[in-house]
Amino acid sequence: AETRGEIMKVDTVAHRGASGYAPENTIAAFDKAVEMKADYIEIDVQRSKDGELVIIHDNSVDRTTNGTGSVKNLTFEELRSLDAGSWKGSEFAGEKIPSFDEILDRYHGKTGILIEMKSPELYPGIEEEVAKELMERNLGKPQNEKIIIQSFNFDSMKLMNRLLPGVPIGVLTSSTKDTTDQALKDIAGYADYFNPSYGLVSEDLVTKVHSLDLKISSWTVRSQQAADFLLDMDVDGIITDYPDYVLPRK
Ligand code: G3P
Ligand code: CA
Repeated sequence: AETRGEIMKVDTVAHRGASGYAPENTIAAFDKAVEMKADYIEIDVQRSKDGELVIIHDNSVDRTTNGTGSVKNLTFEELRSLDAGSWKGSEFAGEKIPSFDEILDRYHGKTGILIEMKSPELYPGIEEEVAKELMERNLGKPQNEKIIIQSFNFDSMKLMNRLLPGVPIGVLTSSTKDTTDQALKDIAGYADYFNPSYGLVSEDLVTKVHSLDLKISSWTVRSQQAADFLLDMDVDGIITDYPDYVLPRK
């Protein structure tokens, strides 16, 4: 919430795109999120065998494509030849695994981008590569471009904060161990967002996080009830498969 107590403004973040309505982490899902007027799209970044940054959630292609194998053991050409849409419905046949640069070029300026570094421990050097792509587009400096970088890997986010001091950083967790006063103080040393699963969210936690000047975005909303709960909790962002549960319905 931007101006607490006055106008409530929560950011609607389309989780892997509008993934309730279209295959996650594809152009179809991201376009749908833009059409629905989400404030941000959330993307999961990993790397192909030959060094291309690609957008896919699982470490393997098995669940969301017609292929098999680990993302890191497949070349970009092999990854691009896969069908990343049909599993969600025949109308999505032919959707491809997007590249990171394709997503930046297509969406920056149109909507915010919440970049999750997915399993960066599998991809040595990926922080520098993501930073380079952002800097090439002038998105790596202090700016109002609505770019945020987050990860479950806190060390990776400390490094990202050193590489791109102007870009907001978030940490992801579903562990209560990360909600102690000391843990949150440490996180506030390098991050701008504390992004917990919604089971961890309480009024107390939101107050504690805000008192450290951190923002809080929570995930993953897949029901109206969960959206309403987080709206009540006064979080700053709601990460959801269904942007219309948060946004005014049209
Ligand atoms: O953005 C938060 C959420 O994406 C974290 O979990 O597994 O969906 O990447 P996951
Ligand atoms: Ca994610």
